[in-house]
Amino acid sequence: MATASRRIGGPGERVDAGLKVTGQARYAADVALPDLAHAAYLGSAIASGRVLAIDTTRAEQVGGVLLILTHHNRGPLGDLPNGDGTALAPDPRPPLADARVHYHGQFVAMVVAESPEQAAHAAALIGVTYEPAPCLVDIDDAEAIRLEDNPRRGDCAAALRAAPVALDVLYSTPVQHPCPLEPHATVAHWVGHDLVVHDSTQWVLGDRALLARAFGLADDRVRICAPFVGGSFGSKVCTAAHTLLAAVAARRLGRPVKSVLRREQVLATIGPRAATRQRIQLGAERDGRLVALRHHTRSHCAVNSGFPDRDPFHEPTSGVTRMLYACPNYEAVHDVVPLHLMKPGWMRAPGEATGLWALEGAMDELACRLGVDPLELRLRNHTAHNAHTGKPYAGEHLRECYERGAERFGWARRDPRPRSMREGDAFVGWGLATATHPGNSDDASVRVRLDRDSRGAYASVATAGVDLGTGLYTALAVVVADALELPLERVHVELGDSRLPPAPVTGGSNLTASLAPAARAACLQLRRRLLGFRRDPDELAAWGELLARAGLGPIEAVGAAEPRGVPGQYAYQSFGAQFVEVRVVPELGQVRVTRVVGVFDVGQVVNATATRNQLIGGILFGLGQALLERLVHDPARGVPVGADLAGYVIPAHADVPDIDVSWLDTPDPAFNALGCRGAGEIGITGVAAAIASAVHHATGIRVRDLPITPERLL
Ligand code: MOS
Repeated sequence: MATASRRIGGPGERVDAGLKVTGQARYAADVALPDLAHAAYLGSAIASGRVLAIDTTRAEQVGGVLLILTHHNRGPLGDLPNGDGTALAPDPRPPLADARVHYHGQFVAMVVAESPEQAAHAAALIGVTYEPAPCLVDIDDAEAIRLEDNPRRGDCAAALRAAPVALDVLYSTPVQHPCPLEPHATVAHWVGHDLVVHDSTQWVLGDRALLARAFGLADDRVRICAPFVGGSFGSKVCTAAHTLLAAVAARRLGRPVKSVLRREQVLATIGPRAATRQRIQLGAERDGRLVALRHHTRSHCAVNSGFPDRDPFHEPTSGVTRMLYACPNYEAVHDVVPLHLMKPGWMRAPGEATGLWALEGAMDELACRLGVDPLELRLRNHTAHNAHTGKPYAGEHLRECYERGAERFGWARRDPRPRSMREGDAFVGWGLATATHPGNSDDASVRVRLDRDSRGAYASVATAGVDLGTGLYTALAVVVADALELPLERVHVELGDSRLPPAPVTGGSNLTASLAPAARAACLQLRRRLLGFRRDPDELAAWGELLARAGLGPIEAVGAAEPRGVPGQYAYQSFGAQFVEVRVVPELGQVRVTRVVGVFDVGQVVNATATRNQLIGGILFGLGQALLERLVHDPARGVPVGADLAGYVIPAHADVPDIDVSWLDTPDPAFNALGCRGAGEIGITGVAAAIASAVHHATGIRVRDLPITPERLL
């Protein structure tokens, strides 16, 4: 056996990087099949009302057109699962179900043709007569429905009345969109009575369950492949309309159908992050210790959500406000406002990115009010257990994140007075915020097969889990190479196929935390089996030799992640501290972020390169959330305005300063066998609040509405 190489936590190349930079990584829309037909969609020109008539005569005459589907001829589909944990439909109604229209851009017709151009041209020639109804797209101008789940502890109202210091502030976030670089795409084809779908998805088993139900098939008659996905950020959890319709059309035509959304269709038909209005009321002692926290959220939902209270998803803003700080009295109330918009969905730290924007902003305001350093205020309210459930964290190192971050940033040199730090014609501001994200994991399994060739032993690793660009290929290769003491290049990883051992949705920063321990468990099983073939316990024999000696062909084991510790004993949570420097030229109102320092505790890091990528990527999302991202809908007609990457602005390289991310290397052994929590989303969570606090420090202007655009500072 080779000597142990402790690769876990070290740097290392992304094992899939070569395939990606040479164009060999095959994404859903790259799939070429003989006889492939192409889909295009016509979206509704109204946001509310119904389709009275559809005239497809001219479209049918376009050369190459094979099929036009509308609600008149789409054909029957089974009920879609939603909220039962097996799959998610973005809309409780299947696409092209009936004449009703609930948002602008909702598909009213699908055209399939020999070429994408023919399909798009024909779709544009379809004539639709609508009966429009009034549309509501303004969250501040529509009636709300109160959700039933209102977490509380203590007596918040009484404590707020009695508190020596009180703060009552309203924070808002606009509709934002996950907007991944790779548009949503599906290639569907039927092989006999079996359905094979290449999809850009976060969840091959979710797709499989939904499509099996829709077509009345057993699960094993549907296969979903997603070996590479070009970003998703929450928007590819649901099995969307274009995926379902591609399968419908492929069956109808007996040909494979490719269905790729145009950018404006991504922005109009794929669920955004809901707009929020968040009222935060804080009651504190004069030294800053919180005695009461009330969090009232208003977020939008879709008019077609059925009963909003039974909807499996609303932007979960209070998840973080209830647990972060020691505070005996707490109450959260959540109202949802049905609007004529696509039903909101998950996006980049749903709940945390929005909830912390409000809470951490309010904490900065409280610090200013009391004349307490904002870092000191956090330390005074720090708690080593989940403030809501009372459960202790098994691994919790937030104080160390604050301390290290402050040191790396130079926080002690901060002059607390707004507009006190200047450089040239710019005011310089420093702000900070706490970052946090739950340590999530789920049932998962990984198969590891050990075999040998002329060069010795090699391992093949397989699971249905999907790498969204997050580094899962690398993480699993590293874990298996480490556990089997193999060179990294002798480990091959196969992902994103529903026929491989089951894995949960890639979401909630859960996948590495779920799959890495499962992969390790499989390797340990293989080791135990092979080590029995040593001549004596001290023999150093290579795996290949042991396989040969045992007369074994390839051997394999399927590992499952087993949570350690007593179930329910601990709370699992990642934390971080984020420090930001901005420069604001007052005459321009433009904010430039010039420095970011983030120190995180995400448990054991599996691969330093991928983790660094993840945390920096998260911080960029935070920068976008703070300064740029906003999807506007025309209030009169509900049309998404500027629904492309020129109108929906995300950070570019020129917006991004040097970002200093580091982590504590503190395994959380009670969480899983590797002690690793996810690192995918925590990077986002405190950034917007830290930027707003820095902007206040620079300018004296408190911005509570995102994004922080120049006109808010003039
Ligand atoms: Mo995500 S927003 O964790 O799918």
